[in-house]
Amino acid sequence: MPSRPPLTRLPPAYEPWEKTLDDAKCLILGDEATTEETDVSEHWRDQVRKLPEISIAGLGVSDVLLRRARVVLTFIVHLYIHSQAPNIDGDNQPPHLIPRSVSLPLLSICNVLSLPPVLTYSDTVLYNWTVVPTESSTELGLDFHTTFTRTPDEAHFYRISALIEVRGIEALQLMRLCLEEASIADSLAIRRIAIHLRKLAGIIDEMSVILMDMYKGCNPAVFYHRIRPWFRGGGGGKDGRLWKFEGADDITATNFEKLSGPSAGQSSIIHALDVFLGVRHDAHIGRPKDALSSPATSTNNHSPQASESKSDPTFMTRMQNYMPQAHREFLDQLRAHSPAVRDFVQEHGLQKSDSTSKSNSFVASFRGNLIRTLNAWYFFGTIDSSEELAKAYNIAVSALKKFRDGHIKIVKTYIIDQAERDIPDTQNRSDSAEKLRGTGGTLLLPFLQACGENTKASLFDLK
Ligand code: HEM
Repeated sequence: MPSRPPLTRLPPAYEPWEKTLDDAKCLILGDEATTEETDVSEHWRDQVRKLPEISIAGLGVSDVLLRRARVVLTFIVHLYIHSQAPNIDGDNQPPHLIPRSVSLPLLSICNVLSLPPVLTYSDTVLYNWTVVPTESSTELGLDFHTTFTRTPDEAHFYRISALIEVRGIEALQLMRLCLEEASIADSLAIRRIAIHLRKLAGIIDEMSVILMDMYKGCNPAVFYHRIRPWFRGGGGGKDGRLWKFEGADDITATNFEKLSGPSAGQSSIIHALDVFLGVRHDAHIGRPKDALSSPATSTNNHSPQASESKSDPTFMTRMQNYMPQAHREFLDQLRAHSPAVRDFVQEHGLQKSDSTSKSNSFVASFRGNLIRTLNAWYFFGTIDSSEELAKAYNIAVSALKKFRDGHIKIVKTYIIDQAERDIPDTQNRSDSAEKLRGTGGTLLLPFLQACGENTKASLFDLK
């Protein structure tokens, strides 16, 4: 999350974009609209096509301005596409054409920010909030000014993710402390890492509690029927139509035909926890490729990760292409950090006896680190540091597994149960649930279950 609230309105030169977004407030999803509602959408879509072509030069290199411009333009793109009445021609439908008045500035901004031209988690959550007063002095009040439906449910959906991000700040600090201690690696460091890992587990538990608060303000039916369809990316609608950006050169146009919609799978905090704890998601389950995973994309500078991730990156790797550049770089640095925490625990946490830690303490004191060593003996002299380290690591991994279990329950309520209600009695419901896809394009249940299993697989067997 940026440390200051993001901008809520662009400077006057960009008012036509902001006004167009304001005017979209009564739009209805194209496949649900009545004839009059379709007329309203068509009128608005015409307004988008007639927008003047405004250069992004006036935004300079200001991240604050470019970010707000991205939020405005990506919301307009999704509104433009999904408010359109469905094409009744059936197969072989032409791609959705995004008018140049929007596509050109959006592609330029994407080039500067190194992000794809589709709504991402960073647009809906990270760069879309304002602080609002709350009744409680400890609770952080966040509101989300740009939404598709203007329902409290949609704002609540974004708020829960944002509160998890905010809680994640302390998790990041603890990760840093662990890595600093790991490079010292004496017995005090080992014990401190164990303490930090236990604290980290507590924070992940709190994140799980926040996640469950989703039920308090976001109605599953409203989410499934009214909010989620707006998120669909290129090729993700019922008709599978791809997106074309008018005025884009051929390479860019092809690369951005198929794009994932926003998903909290693009949140870097959960990725960071995975990388830090050494949870690996290498198994390829239920994941289709999209444009950002194609080798061609790696040549156009929008997805630094794509080149690294070879021909078939996992969903988690693919989602990193939708994260702000700084987040991708941070994850790269975390990945490159040596020693990695899991390796460190393997090396220092699975030793049976206390003798190594005692001898390490001796070495440390020999180095002149006397106060540190005395502290270590004073506070922890009776605890086996190796065992405690491994236990603490497992507690942190288990907390992440619990988070994922809670998340699967949410997905069942908010997507699978809702989708099943739409399935006729004659069809096999559990079979259909297996085949449901997420906004990131995954086969939902097999993918999420695999993420949970991958987390569990990181646990050390301490028996
Ligand atoms: C109503 C609430 C939510 C629903 C319906 C939901 C749905 C989904 C779906 C369908 C996926 C599969 C990937 C895809 O294709 O997009 C997914 C993945 C994911 N979601 Fe959520 N999500 C919700 C809230 C959250 C929140 C608040 C977070 C936390 C920031 C979160 C974190 C993740 C992560 C990290 C993944 C990647 C898979 C994993 O790491 O286990 N989700 N979500």
